[in-house]
Amino acid sequence: MISSRISGFYRMSLEERLNLVAKERKLNEEEKHLIMNSISFPKDISNSMIENNIGVMPIPLGIATNFKVNGKDKFIPMATEEASVIAAASNMASKAYHLGGFFTSQSGSIMTGQIQVLDITDPYAAATRIYENKSAILELCNSKDPTLVSLGGGAIDIEVRVLKTINQPMLIMHLFVDTQDAMGANAVNTMAEAVAPLIERITSGRVVLKIISNLADRRLVRARAVFSTADLGGEDVVKDIINAYEFANYDPYRATTHNKGIMNGISAVVLATGNDTRAVEAGAHAYASTSGRYRSLTKWEMDQEGNLVGSIELPMAVGVIGGATKSHPIACAVLKIMDIQTAEDLASCIAAVGLAQNLGALRALAAEGIQKGHMALHARNLAIMAGAEGGDVDKITEQAIDEKDVRFDRIMEITQQLLKKN
Ligand code: MEV
Repeated sequence: MISSRISGFYRMSLEERLNLVAKERKLNEEEKHLIMNSISFPKDISNSMIENNIGVMPIPLGIATNFKVNGKDKFIPMATEEASVIAAASNMASKAYHLGGFFTSQSGSIMTGQIQVLDITDPYAAATRIYENKSAILELCNSKDPTLVSLGGGAIDIEVRVLKTINQPMLIMHLFVDTQDAMGANAVNTMAEAVAPLIERITSGRVVLKIISNLADRRLVRARAVFSTADLGGEDVVKDIINAYEFANYDPYRATTHNKGIMNGISAVVLATGNDTRAVEAGAHAYASTSGRYRSLTKWEMDQEGNLVGSIELPMAVGVIGGATKSHPIACAVLKIMDIQTAEDLASCIAAVGLAQNLGALRALAAEGIQKGHMALHARNLAIMAGAEGGDVDKITEQAIDEKDVRFDRIMEITQQLLKKN
């Protein structure tokens, strides 16, 4: 069992951090080398992943610490270009840690395929005929993926709706597929295409679109965590965190930024694991609108003891087999670092990060504002750019923050003065 609580992780060198994680999670030399030298990512792999490949666009990969998810400590790899994201998630996770960390649940691993049928004169009768043929439809779909079926998954049900559009009524059949540990787009799209001729015969219509829906509302993940008021800066701050959440829940302008902050964490883990960030993002934002208004993906309340309790619920279409999760060597190493075996485990960690990330932003906004934290990181980066090393970086950062003057020319001056003194 690892401990996710590593004091001074952020003060270690990049090599020390990677060595520590590699030792704990038993990464081999090749995996370590790949992560450390990801700038020289193997060309044969990038070239086989996409068309017209010319190279790679490296995004920094970091580890969020202090996460305990369902009683287990976890290292959380995050790929992000945005400063403060990993620090904020780690900081909030540390505040949840001593109250048990994050607890999660899932509604299942069911993805939805959509089949659009046009040119039907009797859509309601055609819908009924589809239901009559449900067994044959599911059987045909499952014949396309015996491996998934042997693992306990496969097509399990259908649903038919009539959409009255301006042009013509169309029949939309939903195919529900339990995709288990795969994200499932390939399995669902293959089945949807394979079943199209049968649907045409049953309906006497014309099937056009056959494609997965990214509104994966039968694959919801939920996470919750408790935070003590004292750890967050007192009752007034907590009340304003709840007010900030209410603001987002009632105002789409604020909800968009609030949910963007949640996705800062979620997309970083989704990307690090080689999953499809756009699928998860589209699903999250659509789910945030299902009440008819775009709302917060999280909820913040006070429990009976006066603690702040947060919860999050959103679709989480991620997998641990197939696609880049298996073909991208760094994504494979990342799953090993996370000690993840199932898509459900991965979804749980991702939801926990989203919740922590949201609280990090709300706490900063309700208390000192977010620029203070951002400026410290900005100053650190500038100090490093100015040539500072080791302990000097902290000294220069502190001085620039004290002077409330985080500009490169001033940081350059402070650095030169310090280097002269040394
Ligand atoms: C910045 O990337 C994210 C925040 O704007 C999120 C929020 O406002 O809740 C800080």
